[in-house]
Amino acid sequence: MEEKARFAVGLDIGTSTTRAVMGAIGRDGKISVVGYGEVPSEGLRRGIVKELMSPPRVIDTCLRAVEGMSGIEVNDATVNINGSHIGSTKVDGMIAVGVADHEINNDDIDRIADASIAGKIPANREILSLVPYEYILDGQGGIKEPFGMHGERLELRANVISALTPDCDNIQKACEAGNLRVRALEPSAIAAARAVITNAQKENGVGLVDMGSATTGVAIYDEGELQFVGVVPIGSNDITNDLATVLKTVPEIAEEIKLRFASAKFGGSDKDIVIKRGRDEYRFERKEVDEVVEARLEEIFEGVRKLLKHAGYDKRLPEGLVLVGGGSKLRDIEAYARDQVELAVRLGKPEGVLGVSEEIMKPEYATAVGLMYADAEIQSSDNARGFGDILSGGKKAKVAKGEGFFSKLMKKFK
Ligand SMILES: Nc1ncnc2c1ncn2[C@@H]1O[C@H](COP(=O)(O)OP(=O)(O)OP(=O)(O)O)[C@@H](O)[C@H]1O
Ligand SMILES: [Mg+2]
Repeated sequence: MEEKARFAVGLDIGTSTTRAVMGAIGRDGKISVVGYGEVPSEGLRRGIVKELMSPPRVIDTCLRAVEGMSGIEVNDATVNINGSHIGSTKVDGMIAVGVADHEINNDDIDRIADASIAGKIPANREILSLVPYEYILDGQGGIKEPFGMHGERLELRANVISALTPDCDNIQKACEAGNLRVRALEPSAIAAARAVITNAQKENGVGLVDMGSATTGVAIYDEGELQFVGVVPIGSNDITNDLATVLKTVPEIAEEIKLRFASAKFGGSDKDIVIKRGRDEYRFERKEVDEVVEARLEEIFEGVRKLLKHAGYDKRLPEGLVLVGGGSKLRDIEAYARDQVELAVRLGKPEGVLGVSEEIMKPEYATAVGLMYADAEIQSSDNARGFGDILSGGKKAKVAKGEGFFSKLMKKFK
């Protein structure tokens, strides 16, 4: 019997643009992009779905574009979640696993996850994933895979990624109304990291900064695992809006000033900025533009720095920061960011993607491409269980199964 072709789809519902990327999963597990699409978003504020009339239409239009290019129908996808409500919480727990010579099994791993989370995540929050740092068996720490080991007392140290339940539900509803089943939800910054950060960098310590239109997401990795995720509710569109207000012009012209002339290197030129519209000519002072851009960028990077401090990684990431998202395309942003956060900074974009991929090797596609990888990973562990089954207490976790360790575990015991 011929094996059915499998496809992975990532859908990134951004505040300004909704993007989807579809890949064919080869027998060797390699993914080749066969379609993508993008449509201006509607109905979102600061990364969050605020009404349910427009997003389903946008999602549907975006997916139809992907289907048109690939010739493949899209029914399921892994979808982003964004907004300043996203957070991570360090947890730990301990359980007795029974008599001597007991072999750690699936039930024990379920129970220790439950015990570690119990009472630590408020009832109005959805658990998106649990990242195990280490298991400790009878006092012996540093264990990554306790399955099959012998012991009596099992402890876990882990990180729980969660988001407000109503915001998760609204994405789910918007997708369903747009004829799409949500396989899992993953925070934008975590998804983007899948597309631009290597495992070696995650091992050494690295941060991803997703500079979107209305949000700036931060994901920090160290010792190979996600250590922190947070979102600053300010983005590149705030620069545009400030320019429009201060320069007393319409947002369309302010956007053109930003895209064509703005830079994060200030005081370089005194030449006026001139924008033409038909026969009309609009003239703006360079110094004024610089001041507006600098003020907002300062606010954005102060927010990033605050999150780095909160996570305990201020000036402490050997691999530095990787910037993605449309906002990272601002001229000279790397050098500016480096000075602000006192870390190495580089620009990231999805690279080495196979298939029809020129168009998606851009920083603003990092999240959608990462979501496609997440979608493939979930499918490869589909027969195994995820934390959706593990978590009790009525929490219906829409979990990106396999934050590294669990996917390995699942593959191993399939
Ligand atoms: N060349 C450029 N220079 C400066 N800014 C740019 C450039 N190109 C795009 N942008 C900005 O990038 C932003 C869009 O980025 P992106 O598509 O990543 O946002 P989004 O995913 O829709 O928003 P969010 O992630 O905040 O929900 C816009 O504010 C746009 O003006
Ligand atoms: Mg985005």
